[in-house]
Amino acid sequence: MKKHLTNPIFEIISQVAGEMQVQAFVIGGFVRDLLLNRDNKQDIDIVVLGSGIDFAHQVAAKLNEDTPVKFFKNFGTAMLNFHGWKIEFVGARKESYRRNSRKPIVEDGTNEDDQNRRDFTINAMAINLTRENYGQLVDPFNGISDLKEKIIRTPLDPDITFSDDPLRMMRAIRFATQLCFTIEPSCFEAITRNCERISIVSMERVSDELNQIIQAGVPSAGFRLLDETGLLKIIFPEFCELKGSEIIDGKGHKDNFHHTLAVLDNVAEVSNDLWLRWAAILHDIAKPVTKKFVQGTGWTFHAHEFKGAKMVPNIFRQLKLPLNEKMHYVEKLVLLHLRPIVLAEDVVTDSAVRRLLFEAGEDIDDLMLLCNADITSKNPNKVRRYLANFNIVRQKLREIEEKDQLRNWQPPVTGEVIMKTFGIPPSKSVGIIKDAITEAILEGEIANNFDEAYQLMLRLGEKLGLDKKNS
Ligand code: CTP
Repeated sequence: MKKHLTNPIFEIISQVAGEMQVQAFVIGGFVRDLLLNRDNKQDIDIVVLGSGIDFAHQVAAKLNEDTPVKFFKNFGTAMLNFHGWKIEFVGARKESYRRNSRKPIVEDGTNEDDQNRRDFTINAMAINLTRENYGQLVDPFNGISDLKEKIIRTPLDPDITFSDDPLRMMRAIRFATQLCFTIEPSCFEAITRNCERISIVSMERVSDELNQIIQAGVPSAGFRLLDETGLLKIIFPEFCELKGSEIIDGKGHKDNFHHTLAVLDNVAEVSNDLWLRWAAILHDIAKPVTKKFVQGTGWTFHAHEFKGAKMVPNIFRQLKLPLNEKMHYVEKLVLLHLRPIVLAEDVVTDSAVRRLLFEAGEDIDDLMLLCNADITSKNPNKVRRYLANFNIVRQKLREIEEKDQLRNWQPPVTGEVIMKTFGIPPSKSVGIIKDAITEAILEGEIANNFDEAYQLMLRLGEKLGLDKKNS
């Protein structure tokens, strides 16, 4: 493996290991990604048979770059940055590898102990950095064959590995999804058996894994595994509610679980944006609670887009996702997700397109991506019709945008102009006039320019009994 250790930090670590007379290994994700020829997050984990903290200080001293060492005495870990790489040092331990646990580590161990207590065989491989065995792969669980066979397997009895750290159940599914691997059957069964234990892990850590699943190439695969193992029901029960189809009077509706996953995969094909993917996940989330069978009409999901947008903050809160502009973006896309389709089904009028552009603002392109992804019908004629109408909507959007530039639009007459013209303070009348001008422009009753808006403002003022002041 020597020739793969191109980062100069390995040579420095090797020298320090010689000087301190301890063994040092690079282990975990870095080794796995190296063997997979996959980009690594620029994280390097080093295990030493001794004190990780003392070792890190020696490495920092050798770097001669005034590199600060961050260390956590309780956990016996130390960290330093080297040219954009995060290098973490830890003493080999007998206990489980609990990077995020509050429990201090108790016992030092051998390299073998340390490898035993790691999550998966593919993450337990180490490369020796000690001079005499430099570059030698230490792979006691045949992780290399699991990499070749594309298998996620635990080094120990999976019940032990998962009870050491239940987050590993999410990690198993995350790696399976990211790497397109299969979870070995006894490992899969252990996740199913232990799924309830996920509730002792903090939601931040759970959703960090969930977000990585969502950002994978084919995220639906991860959702299916989460569902089959019982984890999904515990961490995100609203999503499970989408499952199934009911039939009344011979009329069924589509299974919204599978539909949503198809939409998610469609979005994943055209965008890496995590929040656009969340919008796909949540676009129909209120279908179960709005579902009704109406005699003569069939199944309806009336106002599911409004109700769904309202559900977004609670779901974000529950999953400890950020309650910021990203959440508002997802709310907006859920609220508007039907609009381009409704437009496409009807005669596409300028005013409807203008209104959509105004409401979607700079997120209009993402909204169009979501709507396109939402077409999952198996009926080719329907799909063809939708896509053709969609092109008309897109064309119209382009035309109206060029003409009216409504993306981050403000009406041409501001509240200030209104107040100055009529000599009034901020008040309800100002809002009424401003809204009426916005409406008139969106409806195409007046052109989108200052003069026409100003004239309308004067007429509205008169109606409200306001006098124009001479300026
Ligand atoms: N590890 C573990 N159990 C955990 C977390 C981590 O055994 N719950 C071990 C694994 O050996 C893992 C290493 O610690 O390879 C580093 O963990 P981390 O940086 O979280 O993950 P990576 O494997 O590096 O993967 P990625 O970079 O994709 O997150």
